[in-house]
Amino acid sequence: MEPFPIPVVCDCDPGHDDAIMLLLAKASPRLRVLAVTTSCGNQTIEKTTWNARRICTLLGLEAPIAMGAAKPLCGQPITAPNIHGQSGLDGPRLPEPRLPLSALTAVELTAKVISECSEPVTIISTGPLTNTACFLLAHPELKPRIRQISLMGGGLAHGNWTPAAEFNILVDPEAADIVFRSGVPILMSGLDVTLKALITEADIARIRAIGGEISRVTAEWLDYFYVFHKGIGYAGAPLHDPCAAAVLIRPELFDIRPMHVEIETGGEFCRGATVGALPGVEDEYAPNVRCVMGLDREGFVDLLCEAVASYGY
Ligand code: RIB
Ligand code: CA
Repeated sequence: MEPFPIPVVCDCDPGHDDAIMLLLAKASPRLRVLAVTTSCGNQTIEKTTWNARRICTLLGLEAPIAMGAAKPLCGQPITAPNIHGQSGLDGPRLPEPRLPLSALTAVELTAKVISECSEPVTIISTGPLTNTACFLLAHPELKPRIRQISLMGGGLAHGNWTPAAEFNILVDPEAADIVFRSGVPILMSGLDVTLKALITEADIARIRAIGGEISRVTAEWLDYFYVFHKGIGYAGAPLHDPCAAAVLIRPELFDIRPMHVEIETGGEFCRGATVGALPGVEDEYAPNVRCVMGLDREGFVDLLCEAVASYGY
Protein backbone atom coordinates (compact mmCIF):
# COMPACT_ATOMS: atom_id res chain seq x y z
CA MET A 1 0.00 0.00 0.00
CA GLU A 2 1.37 3.37 -1.00
CA PRO A 3 1.93 5.36 2.25
CA PHE A 4 0.50 8.57 0.77
CA PRO A 5 -2.02 10.20 0.54
CA ILE A 6 -3.21 9.09 3.97
CA PRO A 7 -7.05 9.19 4.24
CA VAL A 8 -7.99 11.09 7.41
CA VAL A 9 -11.00 12.15 9.47
CA CYS A 10 -10.32 15.41 11.35
CA ASP A 11 -12.13 15.65 14.72
CA CYS A 12 -11.63 19.09 16.22
CA ASP A 13 -12.91 21.93 18.41
CA PRO A 14 -11.90 25.07 16.44
CA GLY A 15 -10.17 26.91 18.04
CA HIS A 16 -7.30 28.82 16.44
CA ASP A 17 -4.81 25.97 16.47
CA ASP A 18 -7.46 23.52 15.21
CA ALA A 19 -8.00 25.91 12.28
CA ILE A 20 -4.31 25.73 11.39
CA MET A 21 -4.40 21.93 11.69
CA LEU A 22 -7.18 21.95 9.05
CA LEU A 23 -5.16 24.37 6.92
CA LEU A 24 -2.20 21.95 6.99
CA ALA A 25 -4.35 18.87 6.36
CA LYS A 26 -6.11 20.42 3.35
CA ALA A 27 -2.87 21.75 1.84
CA SER A 28 -0.79 18.58 2.12
CA PRO A 29 -0.70 16.15 -0.82
CA ARG A 30 0.17 13.52 1.80
CA LEU A 31 -3.27 13.71 3.43
CA ARG A 32 -6.78 13.26 1.99
CA VAL A 33 -9.46 14.71 4.28
CA LEU A 34 -12.53 12.45 4.10
CA ALA A 35 -14.58 14.24 6.78
CA VAL A 36 -14.47 16.87 9.50
CA THR A 37 -16.26 16.31 12.83
CA THR A 38 -16.62 18.73 15.70
CA SER A 39 -16.42 18.40 19.46
CA CYS A 40 -17.26 20.68 22.35
CA GLY A 41 -14.05 21.97 23.83
CA ASN A 42 -12.64 25.40 23.17
CA GLN A 43 -16.22 26.55 22.87
CA THR A 44 -19.72 25.06 22.82
CA ILE A 45 -20.50 22.50 20.13
CA GLU A 46 -22.62 25.03 18.25
CA LYS A 47 -19.75 27.52 18.10
CA THR A 48 -17.01 25.00 17.22
CA THR A 49 -19.24 23.60 14.47
CA TRP A 50 -20.01 27.06 13.06
CA ASN A 51 -16.26 27.80 13.14
CA ALA A 52 -15.37 24.52 11.40
CA ARG A 53 -17.86 25.25 8.62
CA ARG A 54 -16.44 28.75 8.05
CA ILE A 55 -12.83 27.52 8.14
CA CYS A 56 -13.58 24.82 5.57
CA THR A 57 -15.27 27.42 3.32
CA LEU A 58 -12.21 29.69 3.58
CA LEU A 59 -9.86 26.79 2.78
CA GLY A 60 -12.01 25.32 0.02
CA LEU A 61 -12.12 22.08 2.02
CA GLU A 62 -15.16 20.33 0.54
CA ALA A 63 -15.32 17.37 2.94
CA PRO A 64 -18.60 16.70 4.81
CA ILE A 65 -18.81 18.27 8.29
CA ALA A 66 -20.77 16.64 11.12
CA MET A 67 -21.57 17.93 14.60
CA GLY A 68 -20.39 15.82 17.51
CA ALA A 69 -21.21 15.47 21.18
CA ALA A 70 -22.53 18.52 23.03
CA LYS A 71 -20.84 17.49 26.28
CA PRO A 72 -18.25 15.08 27.65
CA LEU A 73 -19.21 11.54 28.70
CA CYS A 74 -19.29 12.57 32.37
CA GLY A 75 -19.56 16.02 33.90
CA GLN A 76 -20.06 19.36 32.24
CA PRO A 77 -18.19 21.00 29.32
CA ILE A 78 -15.17 23.20 30.00
CA THR A 79 -14.64 26.00 27.46
CA ALA A 80 -11.65 28.29 26.83
CA PRO A 81 -12.91 31.80 25.99
CA ASN A 82 -9.85 33.19 27.77
CA ILE A 83 -7.73 31.75 24.97
CA HIS A 84 -9.98 31.53 21.89
CA GLY A 85 -12.55 34.26 22.65
CA GLN A 86 -16.34 34.15 22.95
CA SER A 87 -16.75 32.83 19.39
CA GLY A 88 -14.02 30.25 19.87
CA LEU A 89 -12.21 31.76 16.89
CA ASP A 90 -11.98 35.49 17.61
CA GLY A 91 -9.92 37.62 15.24
CA PRO A 92 -10.26 37.80 11.46
CA ARG A 93 -13.66 37.80 9.76
CA LEU A 94 -14.39 34.55 7.96
CA PRO A 95 -16.75 33.77 5.09
CA GLU A 96 -20.25 32.46 5.79
CA PRO A 97 -20.36 28.64 5.41
CA ARG A 98 -20.84 27.52 1.82
CA LEU A 99 -21.71 23.86 2.49
CA PRO A 100 -24.62 22.65 4.64
CA LEU A 101 -23.90 20.74 7.84
CA SER A 102 -24.18 16.96 7.40
CA ALA A 103 -27.43 15.43 8.65
CA LEU A 104 -25.32 12.67 10.21
CA THR A 105 -23.80 12.82 13.67
CA ALA A 106 -20.01 12.80 14.05
CA VAL A 107 -20.09 9.09 14.93
CA GLU A 108 -22.36 8.25 11.96
CA LEU A 109 -20.21 10.22 9.48
CA THR A 110 -16.98 8.71 10.83
CA ALA A 111 -18.46 5.20 10.50
CA LYS A 112 -19.68 5.95 6.97
CA VAL A 113 -16.39 7.25 5.58
CA ILE A 114 -14.30 4.57 7.29
CA SER A 115 -16.60 1.80 6.02
CA GLU A 116 -16.52 3.19 2.49
CA CYS A 117 -12.77 3.88 2.28
CA SER A 118 -10.75 1.31 0.34
CA GLU A 119 -7.93 1.44 2.93
CA PRO A 120 -7.55 2.00 6.69
CA VAL A 121 -8.26 5.58 7.82
CA THR A 122 -6.33 7.75 10.27
CA ILE A 123 -8.32 9.79 12.79
CA ILE A 124 -6.71 13.15 13.61
CA SER A 125 -8.19 14.34 16.91
CA THR A 126 -7.37 17.80 18.21
CA GLY A 127 -10.10 18.33 20.78
CA PRO A 128 -11.56 16.31 23.65
CA LEU A 129 -11.85 12.62 22.70
CA THR A 130 -15.60 12.28 23.25
CA ASN A 131 -16.50 11.63 19.60
CA THR A 132 -13.65 9.17 19.08
CA ALA A 133 -14.57 7.23 22.22
CA CYS A 134 -18.24 7.11 21.21
CA PHE A 135 -17.26 5.92 17.72
CA LEU A 136 -15.05 3.13 19.13
CA LEU A 137 -17.83 2.01 21.51
CA ALA A 138 -20.51 2.10 18.79
CA HIS A 139 -18.42 0.46 16.07
CA PRO A 140 -15.88 -1.99 17.53
CA GLU A 141 -16.14 -3.88 14.24
CA LEU A 142 -14.48 -0.92 12.46
CA LYS A 143 -11.38 -0.83 14.68
CA PRO A 144 -9.33 -2.84 12.11
CA ARG A 145 -10.24 -0.16 9.54
CA ILE A 146 -8.50 2.53 11.62
CA ARG A 147 -4.81 2.94 10.71
CA GLN A 148 -4.08 5.00 13.84
CA ILE A 149 -5.36 7.88 15.94
CA SER A 150 -3.04 10.90 15.77
CA LEU A 151 -4.17 13.04 18.68
CA MET A 152 -3.18 16.29 20.32
CA GLY A 153 -3.64 15.76 24.03
CA GLY A 154 -1.96 15.14 27.34
CA GLY A 155 1.50 15.89 28.60
CA LEU A 156 3.84 13.58 30.51
CA ALA A 157 5.55 16.27 32.52
CA HIS A 158 2.64 18.57 33.47
CA GLY A 159 -0.67 19.98 32.35
CA ASN A 160 -1.80 23.35 31.02
CA TRP A 161 -5.33 23.63 32.42
CA THR A 162 -4.55 22.17 35.82
CA PRO A 163 -1.04 21.45 37.07
CA ALA A 164 -1.57 17.79 36.11
CA ALA A 165 -3.93 17.84 33.12
CA GLU A 166 -3.87 19.16 29.56
CA PHE A 167 -7.16 20.69 28.35
CA ASN A 168 -8.30 18.10 25.77
CA ILE A 169 -7.82 15.18 28.16
CA LEU A 170 -9.23 17.07 31.16
CA VAL A 171 -12.49 17.93 29.38
CA ASP A 172 -13.25 14.21 28.97
CA PRO A 173 -10.88 11.87 30.84
CA GLU A 174 -13.33 8.94 30.58
CA ALA A 175 -13.34 9.28 26.80
CA ALA A 176 -9.55 9.49 26.73
CA ASP A 177 -9.34 6.35 28.91
CA ILE A 178 -11.57 4.47 26.44
CA VAL A 179 -9.39 5.59 23.50
CA PHE A 180 -6.05 4.82 25.19
CA ARG A 181 -7.29 1.34 26.22
CA SER A 182 -8.91 0.62 22.80
CA GLY A 183 -5.96 -1.19 21.26
CA VAL A 184 -6.07 1.14 18.25
CA PRO A 185 -2.55 2.48 17.49
CA ILE A 186 -2.15 5.93 19.07
CA LEU A 187 0.26 8.70 18.08
CA MET A 188 0.16 11.18 20.97
CA SER A 189 1.28 14.79 20.45
CA GLY A 190 1.13 16.09 23.99
CA LEU A 191 2.52 19.21 25.57
CA ASP A 192 5.93 17.49 25.56
CA VAL A 193 6.19 18.39 21.87
CA THR A 194 3.55 21.08 21.35
CA LEU A 195 5.12 23.51 23.81
CA LYS A 196 8.24 23.28 21.63
CA ALA A 197 6.19 24.03 18.49
CA LEU A 198 6.34 27.74 19.24
CA ILE A 199 5.53 30.26 16.49
CA THR A 200 7.39 33.48 17.23
CA GLU A 201 6.50 37.01 16.20
CA ALA A 202 9.19 36.75 13.50
CA ASP A 203 7.52 33.57 12.19
CA ILE A 204 4.14 35.34 12.14
CA ALA A 205 5.70 38.20 10.16
CA ARG A 206 7.13 35.62 7.72
CA ILE A 207 3.67 34.11 7.25
CA ARG A 208 2.08 37.55 6.78
CA ALA A 209 4.73 38.41 4.17
CA ILE A 210 3.61 35.49 1.98
CA GLY A 211 0.60 37.61 0.98
CA GLY A 212 -2.98 36.73 0.07
CA GLU A 213 -6.10 36.02 2.15
CA ILE A 214 -4.93 32.71 3.65
CA SER A 215 -1.65 34.32 4.72
CA ARG A 216 -3.46 37.29 6.28
CA VAL A 217 -6.03 35.18 8.12
CA THR A 218 -3.41 32.72 9.39
CA ALA A 219 -1.24 35.57 10.68
CA GLU A 220 -4.26 37.14 12.39
CA TRP A 221 -5.25 33.79 13.96
CA LEU A 222 -1.70 33.51 15.29
CA ASP A 223 -1.68 37.12 16.50
CA TYR A 224 -4.86 36.43 18.49
CA PHE A 225 -3.72 33.02 19.76
CA TYR A 226 -0.44 34.58 20.94
CA VAL A 227 -2.10 37.28 23.06
CA PHE A 228 -2.97 34.92 25.95
CA HIS A 229 0.32 33.03 25.75
CA LYS A 230 2.46 36.19 25.55
CA GLY A 231 0.64 37.43 28.62
CA ILE A 232 1.85 34.42 30.59
CA GLY A 233 5.40 34.62 29.35
CA TYR A 234 5.55 32.31 26.32
CA ALA A 235 8.19 33.15 23.70
CA GLY A 236 5.68 32.33 20.96
CA ALA A 237 2.27 30.80 20.19
CA PRO A 238 2.35 27.05 20.94
CA LEU A 239 0.88 25.37 17.86
CA HIS A 240 -0.59 22.36 19.63
CA ASP A 241 -3.05 20.93 17.10
CA PRO A 242 -1.02 21.28 13.88
CA CYS A 243 1.51 18.84 15.42
CA ALA A 244 -1.07 16.02 15.13
CA ALA A 245 -1.23 16.57 11.36
CA ALA A 246 2.40 17.57 10.75
CA VAL A 247 3.69 14.37 12.37
CA LEU A 248 1.77 12.39 9.71
CA ILE A 249 2.95 14.62 6.86
CA ARG A 250 6.63 14.91 7.83
CA PRO A 251 7.36 12.30 10.57
CA GLU A 252 11.09 12.86 10.11
CA LEU A 253 10.71 16.28 11.75
CA PHE A 254 9.61 14.65 15.01
CA ASP A 255 11.11 12.61 17.87
CA ILE A 256 8.71 9.74 18.57
CA ARG A 257 9.11 7.20 21.37
CA PRO A 258 7.12 4.14 22.49
CA MET A 259 5.57 4.82 25.88
CA HIS A 260 3.04 3.32 28.25
CA VAL A 261 0.44 5.99 29.00
CA GLU A 262 -2.61 5.71 31.22
CA ILE A 263 -5.32 8.28 31.94
CA GLU A 264 -6.14 9.36 35.49
CA THR A 265 -9.94 9.57 35.71
CA GLY A 266 -10.15 9.97 39.51
CA GLY A 267 -8.21 12.07 41.99
CA GLU A 268 -8.65 15.48 43.56
CA PHE A 269 -5.57 17.04 41.95
CA CYS A 270 -4.67 14.78 39.03
CA ARG A 271 -7.92 14.03 37.15
CA GLY A 272 -7.14 14.15 33.41
CA ALA A 273 -3.41 13.50 33.81
CA THR A 274 -1.64 11.34 31.21
CA VAL A 275 0.61 9.15 33.32
CA GLY A 276 3.58 7.81 31.35
CA ALA A 277 5.94 4.91 32.20
CA LEU A 278 9.42 5.10 30.71
CA PRO A 279 10.58 1.86 29.03
CA GLY A 280 12.07 -0.59 31.50
CA VAL A 281 9.33 -0.32 34.10
CA GLU A 282 7.56 -3.65 34.84
CA ASP A 283 6.22 -5.62 31.86
CA GLU A 284 2.65 -4.69 32.82
CA TYR A 285 3.56 -1.20 31.55
CA ALA A 286 4.34 -2.31 28.00
CA PRO A 287 4.12 0.59 25.50
CA ASN A 288 0.59 1.34 24.25
CA VAL A 289 1.25 4.62 22.43
CA ARG A 290 3.87 6.30 20.29
CA CYS A 291 4.59 9.51 22.13
CA VAL A 292 5.87 12.58 20.25
CA MET A 293 8.53 14.15 22.46
CA GLY A 294 10.28 16.74 20.27
CA LEU A 295 10.49 18.36 16.85
CA ASP A 296 12.62 20.30 14.42
CA ARG A 297 10.92 23.66 15.05
CA GLU A 298 12.44 25.37 12.02
CA GLY A 299 11.32 22.53 9.76
CA PHE A 300 7.83 22.72 11.30
CA VAL A 301 7.61 26.46 10.59
CA ASP A 302 8.84 25.87 7.02
CA LEU A 303 6.08 23.26 6.57
CA LEU A 304 3.48 25.74 7.81
CA CYS A 305 4.76 28.49 5.49
CA GLU A 306 4.77 26.08 2.52
CA ALA A 307 1.18 25.11 3.30
CA VAL A 308 0.02 28.74 3.51
CA ALA A 309 1.79 29.63 0.24
CA SER A 310 0.31 26.58 -1.52
CA TYR A 311 -3.22 28.06 -1.39
CA GLY A 312 -2.16 30.77 -3.81
CA TYR A 313 -4.86 33.24 -2.64
O1 RIB B 1 -4.25 22.05 25.35
C1 RIB B 1 -4.30 22.47 24.01
C2 RIB B 1 -5.51 21.93 23.32
O2 RIB B 1 -6.68 22.44 23.93
C3 RIB B 1 -5.60 22.34 21.84
O3 RIB B 1 -6.27 21.33 21.13
C4 RIB B 1 -6.44 23.58 21.88
O4 RIB B 1 -7.16 23.81 20.66
C5 RIB B 1 -7.41 23.23 22.98
O5 RIB B 1 -8.43 22.44 22.41
CA1 CA C 1 -8.19 21.88 19.79
